[in-house]
Amino acid sequence: MIVTIDGPAGVGKSTAARRLAERLGYDFLDTGAMYRAVAVVCLERNWDPAEVELSARVAREVRIETLSGQVLCNGVDFADRIRTPTVSQAASIVAQNPDVREALVRQQRDAGCNRDIVTEGRDQGTIVFPHAECKFFLTAEAQERALRRHRELSVAGHEIEIAELMRLQKERDDRDEMRSVAPLKPADDAVIVDTTGKTPDEVLDELVQIVRTRQPR
Ligand code: DC
Repeated sequence: MIVTIDGPAGVGKSTAARRLAERLGYDFLDTGAMYRAVAVVCLERNWDPAEVELSARVAREVRIETLSGQVLCNGVDFADRIRTPTVSQAASIVAQNPDVREALVRQQRDAGCNRDIVTEGRDQGTIVFPHAECKFFLTAEAQERALRRHRELSVAGHEIEIAELMRLQKERDDRDEMRSVAPLKPADDAVIVDTTGKTPDEVLDELVQIVRTRQPR
């Protein structure tokens, strides 16, 4: 069975998806980590992420694996490199490139082949797995999303003002929603879950209840 969780940055998708996968005994596919890994490789080569030929070349060259719970890029653990504000901005730029998307969508479909997975991203229910048995679209108020991201970054040792974070978040939301290929939007058959004011446990319980109604008996 395939469960998709889409939604904007900072809405709690990763936590919800990871914990839902654990609870169900499914694998977890973190597609945002894949775009981030492509961005890291571009930056480490001093290649401009906006150079479409170069970022597409990277996306075709690398094999990114997240099902094991790690983020492996051609076998190398990238987990520590992918969550900085610089990488977030670069990832949202490479994600606009149709050739990057094509290469990564192929890897995502391979990963979901003949497996029970929970997958999270922006286009999982609309483009990558349109026939998924259970689709969620998570939302939350912009300020709460920025506060959550701020806490995550502080824990990881990155200090950044909330106002700046909100500005960057808005930039990324606009890019995600307005790009011509696979823009961020709920699938017609997605269940919309507003996570504003809810704890991760409350969100998880809500998702689990809905998935249970869709699982084959
Ligand atoms: O969810 P995230 O913040 O880790 O995603 C990083 C970037 O990749 C973000 O700008 C949106 C983009 N992305 C995408 O376009 N499609 C996906 N399936 C996942 C992420």
